[in-house]
Parts: sequence; structure tokens; C-alpha cells
Amino acid sequence: MTFKELTAARYSVRQYKDKPVEKDTLAAILEAGRIAPTAGNRQPQRILAVTEPAGLEKIDRCTGCRFGAPAVLVVCYDKNECWVRKYDGAKSGEADASIVTTHLMYQAVELGLGTLWVMFFDPAKLVEEFAIPDNLVPVSLLILGYPADNAAPADRHFQRHPTEKILSWEKLSQAY
Ligand SMILES: Cc1cc2nc3c(=O)[nH]c(=O)nc-3n(C[C@H](O)[C@H](O)[C@H](O)COP(=O)(O)O)c2cc1C
Repeated sequence: MTFKELTAARYSVRQYKDKPVEKDTLAAILEAGRIAPTAGNRQPQRILAVTEPAGLEKIDRCTGCRFGAPAVLVVCYDKNECWVRKYDGAKSGEADASIVTTHLMYQAVELGLGTLWVMFFDPAKLVEEFAIPDNLVPVSLLILGYPADNAAPADRHFQRHPTEKILSWEKLSQAY
């Protein structure tokens, strides 16, 4: 698949087969998260891979958005490890965790899996359920699994703003 084909093929999958994700497939996905770029190459991402029934039950106590998927990657960042912008103290953790999640997501799609990026979870409950240490901030849950035969994109998948709404070109000054 070219990158263009990959981005066109991806959609949020909310129906999954009752089929586990193979360990080597998960390993390949996690490798894409390992090599993702991060600010200052600080690599603050910390990922919790959840595939056992007891862990999936914990996930279900934190979100209603697992949709029966057999695997969940909890993408966190270490707030003591991320890059800090000196001008305003802004930390790179959310951006780093998001690009890591994006890498994981597209690698999963390339390997034939469906994915769902989930932000609608209770972070305090997640921290409690998995005893996530204080220095780690959970940013996203990436739901993974083989799409059910009847899986299909939601209507919103096809609703995207036109280019004019999201892009503006810097106007060239008269000097040019
Ligand atoms: C940052 C982020 C958070 C999201 N959180 C949720 C979520 O909690 N639950 C859910 O069902 N979908 C969630 N989604 C999926 C979006 O609703 C979906 O990407 C959007 O509607 C476009 O549809 P598509 O992914 O099929 O193209 C999230 C997506 C992103 C990028």
C-alpha cells in the first residue's frame, strides 16, 4: 500500500471480529510506535498493551468505546521525560503521544487490522485500574482488532471540510 492508499483505507472501526491479534502483528505495530519522531528525540512515550480478558474488563470500566476489540494500546507520556519549550514551558508530551498513536494506527491498518482512536475515557479511573504511576499521563487508547464482516465507516468518515476552510496561504508582500 502507498501512503495515499493507506490513509484512504483507514476509518474508525466500531465492529470487531472475536479473533485475537497475533503477538508478532502486535510487535510490528509497537515497533512503529517505538521509531516515531518525538520532540528533541526525548521519546517520552510509554505504551501499555492490553490483550488479556482481565485487562480488557478494566478498559471497559474506563470507556464505553472498546466495541469488543481484542487489543487496546494505552499510549501515555512521561511528563518528566518530554521536551519543554523554554519560552512558555509548553510540554511536548501530548504531541509526542499523538504522533506515536498515529504511527501505531497506520501500521495496524497496513497489517489488515481495524483501529479506533479513543479519547473518551476516564483518565483517573484508568490510572487507578492499571496502577499507572504519577509521572505517566495517558493520552489515547488505540483500539485494535480485525474488522467484523459488517464493519463500515460511519457517515462522519466521509464528512471533511474543504481545503479552503482549513488552509490559508501566507500572502506574499508587495516586495515580492
Ligand atoms: C483524538 C481523537 C479522539 C477520538 N476519540 C474517540 C472516542 O473516544 N470514541 C470514538 O468512538 N471515536 C473517537 N475518535 C474517532 C473520531 O470520531 C473519528 O476519527 C472521526 O469521526 C472521523 O471518522 P473516521 O476516523 O472514520 O474517518 C477519535 C478520533 C481522534 C483523532
